[in-house]
Amino acid sequence: MTAARNIQNIALIGFMGTGKSTVGRLIAEQLRFDFLDTDVLIEQRSGKRITEIFAQNGETAFRELEAQLVAELAARTQTIISTGGGLPTNPANLASLKAHSLVICLWASPERIYERVREQSHRPLLNDSDPLGKIRALLTAREKFYKQADVLINSDLRSAREVAQQVVNQFRLVTNPRK
Ligand code: S3P
Repeated sequence: MTAARNIQNIALIGFMGTGKSTVGRLIAEQLRFDFLDTDVLIEQRSGKRITEIFAQNGETAFRELEAQLVAELAARTQTIISTGGGLPTNPANLASLKAHSLVICLWASPERIYERVREQSHRPLLNDSDPLGKIRALLTAREKFYKQADVLINSDLRSAREVAQQVVNQFRLVTNPRK
């Protein structure tokens, strides 16, 4: 069975381009929590961009850095944690996040994701001759992990502010059910 939970934080999981960082910053502002982005922390610590880590050390090395970082997050309180899109595909990462965070998955259709990421080049997994096909394939493969979140929110038809408000409402319901 799942371990006992002590929910202190909010973790945002979900595919690239679903708005985790934008929404996470809005939630942090509203709740006056810290904001932390796992990709940014990995880049700061390694002194390399994610694309360089993938190119020079490989995806497996990147996943190890992610797992190390997730283990450290257990000490955090009052923090909004925005995670890299592939992070919850490691079940240990998801289990670890769930011990201290309400885990929210932001969901979007492949077409909407493609619209959001098409002008960007910092995501090695989407530097592909058929990025939309790659998005569809990865989303299908990852769906089972994303659906293990406590709450799933579709960001296709909502503004970042609306999504952020939904997350805040869910968090208040769980941490302070009487209000
Ligand atoms: C990845 C998503 C990226 C980043 C890396 C791998 C993935 O993060 O961690 O490029 O496997 O989906 P974002 O979801 O913040 O773009």
